[in-house]
Formats: sequence, structure tokens, C-alpha cells
Amino acid sequence: MHKKQRIRVAAACSVLALLCIALVWVLPAGASSSENAFKPDQFIDPETCGGCHDEILAQWQGSMHNLSHKDPVYTRVAKFFRQGLTDAGQIEEAESCVKCHTPVGYVTGFPQKLSDDLSQIQKIPAQGIQCDYCHVAVDVTRMYNNGLVLSPGQGEDNPGVKHGPFDDAEPDFHDAAFSQLHTDSKICGTCHNVKHMAFGTDLETTYTEWENSPYNSPVPEKHVPCQGCHMYQRPGVPATGSTLRPDNPGSAAAGAKQRPHIFTHNLVGANSGVPEMFSAKDKSDMAVERLRHAADIFLIMIDNHTARVVVTNTGAGHSLPTGVGDLRQVWVEVTLTDSDGNAVFQTGVPDKNNELPENTVMFKTIFGDGLGNPVINMAKAKEILSDTRIPAGKSAVRLFNLRTTPQKGHTLTARLLYRSMPQKILNQVPGPRLGPLPVIEMAAAHKTF
Ligand code: HEC
Ligand code: HEC
Ligand code: HEC
Ligand code: HEC
Ligand code: HEC
Repeated sequence: MHKKQRIRVAAACSVLALLCIALVWVLPAGASSSENAFKPDQFIDPETCGGCHDEILAQWQGSMHNLSHKDPVYTRVAKFFRQGLTDAGQIEEAESCVKCHTPVGYVTGFPQKLSDDLSQIQKIPAQGIQCDYCHVAVDVTRMYNNGLVLSPGQGEDNPGVKHGPFDDAEPDFHDAAFSQLHTDSKICGTCHNVKHMAFGTDLETTYTEWENSPYNSPVPEKHVPCQGCHMYQRPGVPATGSTLRPDNPGSAAAGAKQRPHIFTHNLVGANSGVPEMFSAKDKSDMAVERLRHAADIFLIMIDNHTARVVVTNTGAGHSLPTGVGDLRQVWVEVTLTDSDGNAVFQTGVPDKNNELPENTVMFKTIFGDGLGNPVINMAKAKEILSDTRIPAGKSAVRLFNLRTTPQKGHTLTARLLYRSMPQKILNQVPGPRLGPLPVIEMAAAHKTF
């Protein structure tokens, strides 16, 4: 090639490169053919849906789906994990959170990543996982990292089709269609299975755990999807695997016909602290009720100074704990007290900084950096070093050396406790103090000597 030609080719190449850069600049990152890309005004405010679906709106308000974007435990921990990363794979993961936590924003162009200026968010996307997101879902492309395919309408003037469990609904405001997807665990599972964007590590596996559980029974009467527990719960009805899950008869919209069951939208899990920060006392009370019907604990002495504790997952349709299993804390506290109530032996008790001792018996996942070293930052997770969570219907047995022989009048207590995040991590998050988060007693067993 002559020098002149080379220069001409180089010039053409740089013009092309510039064009490409310009294109990438103009197109929102979600605009590739495989992802959804929509205009913000296609999505309708939940308040509008609540004009007719008032009870459903009230159930969803203050739920973790409503709070998924605003949840300060999520946003502050996410920003803390993003800090100081230099590895491209780690950064890709640390930026990806908005895909599930702010899904309407993600598919309408803003935010595209965690480090976008989230204070610029519009009113509708700020309301998290909402009515006009779930009810315009028509398909799932993959069972992890939110593979929902959407078909939204054109805003309030032309709301389009809302997909749900009825095959005979004829509302005036919007069209309606029966959707098998909405009755299936898959609509939940595509967000409740999380894989590391670059390393492929399974970060959350709630759907897979459920898929492998007895609740995913081929026998229709025994098959309990996510909705079969989580969309039956209302105050006083925890609706877990160890309780009844009675129908909730009523009507789905003001003036609509009576139906045998209206699916509730509280979608409560185990998080009671965050709803409380937003004054959603009903949701935090329901989370506590759910936790109190999730597990059993038994206690026996097997020799003079050894207690055997058995914890059984009786109520959850997945592992206990599930979700962010590296962060959730489910642990056993054992206390031996004398006849005056003074502790003779204790384990699993938080210290003055609300941190749990290293030797606490806990059921959890531990991620590693690929070289066998534990990491707390999911963005750095290349492997799972251990997983001691309790699968649905299964038990875990632990022995406790009391270092003394219980005397007459002594009482031995074993408690199963839940906290949604280690204070040790919260204490490292910059800014105003986060926590302490509530500690919930899930179950307790006593033995008096
Ligand atoms: C996380 C996804 C999700 C969100 C958010 C959501 N829904 Fe639903 N909704 C569902 C599913 C799934 C069903 C059907 C459950 C089944 O059939 O097993 C349903 C059922 C319904 C129904 C049929 C009646 C019933 O409750 O059984 C209506 C009406 C409805 N939703 C309206 C709303 C409104 C209004 C909002 C916002 C305030 C909302 N939904 C938010 C997933 C969602
Ligand atoms: C003007 C009143 C009104 C408004 C506003 C409204 N709906 Fe409805 N919707 C109804 C009625 C009525 C039904 C039928 C209920 C029945 O048949 O039991 C219905 C049914 C539904 C169903 C069940 C569809 C099916 O076939 O299973 C869903 C899902 C739903 N609405 C979602 C929404 C969403 C999301 C919004 C906000 C974008 C919304 N609705 C706004 C009146 C309304
Ligand atoms: C048999 C009833 C049942 C079924 C089915 C079920 N769950 Fe749960 N779920 C529970 C109970 C009980 C808890 C509270 C104990 C716990 O945290 O695991 C819970 C807690 C949760 C939590 C909070 C976990 C935590 O500790 O942070 C999430 C998230 C969740 N469920 C999602 C799902 C999804 C998604 C499905 C379907 C793939 C599902 N659940 C199926 C009973 C059920
Ligand atoms: C668009 C993604 C998405 C879909 C679809 C979705 N979820 Fe969630 N869900 C989330 C996210 C994100 C959170 C956590 C929000 C937070 O903690 O800040 C959450 C929270 C929850 C919680 C509360 C967990 C706790 O710790 O208390 C439960 C229970 C739950 N989801 C169940 C379901 C069920 C059942 C379905 C299907 C009907 C479903 N979700 C569909 C993304 C989704
Ligand atoms: C594929 C969907 C998805 C993506 C992507 C995702 N999350 Fe989540 N996140 C969830 C779900 C589902 C839950 C609820 C699980 C539970 O309750 O344990 C959750 C809960 C959390 C919680 C617990 C919040 C609380 O109040 O206790 C934190 C923290 C969190 N996510 C951080 C992140 C960070 C940081 C990222 C990005 C690096 C991220 N998530 C990306 C689905 C997702």
C-alpha cells in the first residue's frame, strides 16, 4: 500500500469509528434488538391503576417491589460495592443493578447504570417494580437477570392490553388478556435468579431452589408456585408451607364481579426493616408473621454438656434464607441461664457494635474471589465457597458444646434469629449510620433441668 492510500484508508476508518461512537452515543444502551427499549410516557403511573384497583394499590404501596429503587439499604450498599473497582468484569456487574431494581427506568433509557445520577430519575420509574411493568410482560427469554419481554401500551390515552389470571375480564379502561406466564413461577424467577454479568457466578438462586423443591410438584393439587404463598398473604394470613393458604375472595376492581380468589400484592418476604423506614408498618408486620411461620427448632442434650439443635425449613418454598444469601443472616443463639436468669453460657449474641461473633452458627452462602478467599462484594464473586442454607423441607443439625454441665434449675434456650444484613457491612458504608436492622425471632426451643 502506498503511503497516500494508507492515509486515506486510515482517514476512512476514523470517520467510521467516529460514526460508530456517535451512534452508540445517540442510542440508549437498552436499544439493542435483544433488550426492550420504550418511551417513558408509554408507562402508566400506579396511582392511575389504583383509581379502580384501590385494594391492590394499597397492598403494593410500601412493598419491597414498590421500594426496590428507593430502598436505602440497596442503594447505599450498591454504591459502596461499586467504589474503587478497576476490573472490567467487576464494574460490569456492579453497574447492572438497575436492570431489576429500577426496571421501568432501565427499559426507557434512564438510568442505564448504577453510577448514573439517580437523583435525576422521573416519578414513574422511581416507583420500582410496578403494575404497568409486570402486567405488560408477555414472555421470558432467560430464567435469570430479568429476561422479561414487554409489550406496553401508549400511556393513559391508549393503555393497551394488561395481562393477568382471568380469561373473562372486560374492563373499559384497558384491554385484558389471560396470561399463563402470570400464573407461573417463571414471571418471578427471571428476576429472582441473579447471575454475575461477567463471571456467571450464581448470586441469587431463589427460582432454581424452588424448582428443585417439593413445591414444584407435577401433581397439580400439590404444585405451589411463588404466587401460591406470596400472593395469598395478608394480615393474619402468613400463607407459608407450614400454614393454611386460604383463598381471598373479593373483586379485583371497584364494582367488578366477585371472584373466589384475588391475588394479594403485598409480596412480603423477610424484610421488615426497610418497609418500616417508609412507614409501611403493615408490610413489616407481615414480614415478621411470615418469618415466624418459616421454620421449626428442636433441642436435646446428647451428653452432659452437648446440646443438639435441629432446624427445619417447614415454611419456605426455597432455601432458608434465600435471595441475597450471602447477606441475609439466619443464625442460632444458644443460652444457658441459672435459676436467677444469669447467663452461664451464650453463643450467637451480637456485640456492642451489633456485630455477630465469628463462630456464630449461621446458614448462609459465602462467595470467593476465584482463589479461595472470601469476598463480601458480589461484584467480586467468582465462586461459591460454601452454602449452608437449608433447602425447602430439609433440616440442619448442629452441636453446641456448653462447656459446663447444666444443673437443676438451669434453663437452656435455642433461638433461630433473622436479620436482613450484617451490621459489619453496614458499618463500612460511608455516610450516615445504617441500622441497626431489626432482629426477628423465627422460632425458639427451651429445656429446663
Ligand atoms: C411483581 C409483578 C407484579 C406487580 C408489580 C403487580 N402485579 Fe398484579 N399480578 C401479578 C401476578 C403474577 C398476578 C396473577 C397471579 C396468579 O394468577 O397466580 C397478578 C394479578 C393481578 C390482577 C388480577 C386480580 C388479582 O389480584 O388476582 C390485577 C387486577 C392486578 N394484578 C393489578 C395490579 C395492579 C393495579 C398493580 C399495581 C398497584 C399490580 N397488579 C402490580 C404480578 C404483579
Ligand atoms: C377505569 C378502571 C380501571 C383502571 C384505571 C385500571 N383497570 Fe385494570 N381492570 C379493571 C376492571 C374492571 C378489570 C376486570 C376485573 C374483573 O373482571 O374481575 C380489570 C382487570 C385488570 C387485570 C386482569 C386482567 C386479566 O385478564 O386477568 C389486570 C392485570 C389489570 N386490570 C391491570 C391494570 C393496570 C396495570 C392498570 C394501570 C395501568 C389498570 N389495570 C387500570 C378496571 C381498571
Ligand atoms: C411454600 C411457600 C413459599 C413458596 C412456594 C415460595 N416462598 Fe418465598 N418465602 C416463603 C417464606 C416462609 C419466606 C420467609 C423465610 C425466608 O426468608 O426464606 C419466604 C421468603 C422469600 C423471600 C425473602 C428471602 C430473604 O430472606 O431475603 C423472597 C425474595 C422470596 N421468598 C421469593 C420467592 C420466590 C421468587 C418464589 C418462587 C420461585 C417463592 N418465594 C416461593 C414461602 C414461600
Ligand atoms: C422485575 C424484576 C422482578 C420481578 C418480575 C419480581 N420481583 Fe420480586 N423483587 C425484585 C427485587 C429487585 C426485589 C428486592 C427489592 C429490595 O430489596 O430492594 C424483590 C423483592 C421481593 C420480595 C421481598 C423480599 C424481602 O426480602 O422481603 C418478595 C417476597 C418477592 N420479590 C417475590 C416475588 C414474586 C412472588 C414475584 C412473582 C409474582 C416477583 N417477586 C417478581 C425483583 C422482581
Ligand atoms: C436479576 C435481578 C437483580 C439484579 C440485576 C440485582 N438485584 Fe439486588 N435483588 C434482587 C432481588 C430479587 C432481591 C430480593 C432478594 C431477597 O430479598 O433476598 C434483591 C435484593 C437486594 C439487596 C437487599 C436489599 C435489602 O433491603 O435488604 C441488596 C443489597 C441488593 N439486592 C443489591 C444489589 C446490587 C448491589 C446489585 C448490582 C450489583 C443488584 N442487587 C442487582 C434482584 C436483583
